[in-house]
Amino acid sequence: MSTSSPNDQLTSAEAVELVALAGGLAHEIRNPLSTISMNIQLLVEELEPSATPRDQRMLARLLTVQKECLTLEETLSEFTQFVRLGHLEQEPRDLSELVRRFLNFIGPEAKAKNIEIASYLSSDLPSVLIDERLFRQALLNLARNAFQAMERGGRLEFQTYQKDGAVVLTVMDTGPGVSDKLLPRLFEPFFTTKVSGSGLGLPTVKRIIEAHNGVIHCESTPGKGTRFVITLPSSH
Ligand SMILES: Nc1ncnc2c1ncn2[C@@H]1O[C@H](COP(=O)(O)OP(=O)(O)O)[C@@H](O)[C@H]1O
Ligand SMILES: [Mg+2]
Repeated sequence: MSTSSPNDQLTSAEAVELVALAGGLAHEIRNPLSTISMNIQLLVEELEPSATPRDQRMLARLLTVQKECLTLEETLSEFTQFVRLGHLEQEPRDLSELVRRFLNFIGPEAKAKNIEIASYLSSDLPSVLIDERLFRQALLNLARNAFQAMERGGRLEFQTYQKDGAVVLTVMDTGPGVSDKLLPRLFEPFFTTKVSGSGLGLPTVKRIIEAHNGVIHCESTPGKGTRFVITLPSSH
């Protein structure tokens, strides 16, 4: 990214307009893209039974296009999520309880990926005002990244505790970690080190946490693992 001069700073009204525009664009792309995907699928089904070399070559090309369409569809849906948090529906919640239910949900996937889940959840947390749907999305983005980082298995640990009247959640993995050079870029929109990554997972997490008046930061030791620390205000 180029360095910004005062001239390229957006006013907040312009920013809001741009966000709406970007969201609208994503929406406009989605429909034709799904028509393209559907037709590719039909062509794939037509070619699949045939074994002529020409058909097989066409099939291979179509599968490549199909994969790219899927990546685009995922990027669009992550992008829409990122730009449109929408109105928060917050209710007082026990964060430990919410995390526990989330862990039940990701348990089977973790097991299949040879990842051990550990949790140290405080049983007497003050409640936090949480939009449960959005918060689960944030947890899911963090867990997905951890799963992807620990390709050959590992350990993912969730911890909740109180600190100075706030509620803290840490999510720690035993993956390869992030170098000091890349660490400051992790929450930048579109920053990714993955071949078909969107680079929108962590920016979305950050937006969700900040919409809850919380903060998130990341600590990492290359070769050891990565820890995300989320601090949220308690609701009383
Ligand atoms: N748990 C993690 N361990 C190591 N690197 C991570 C972890 N989570 C995120 N990253 C790094 O941060 C980048 C941005 O993550 P994210 O915004 O979710 O986008 P994406 O997953 O699409 O790449 C990833 O590409 C990866 O390099
Ligand atoms: Mg991600």
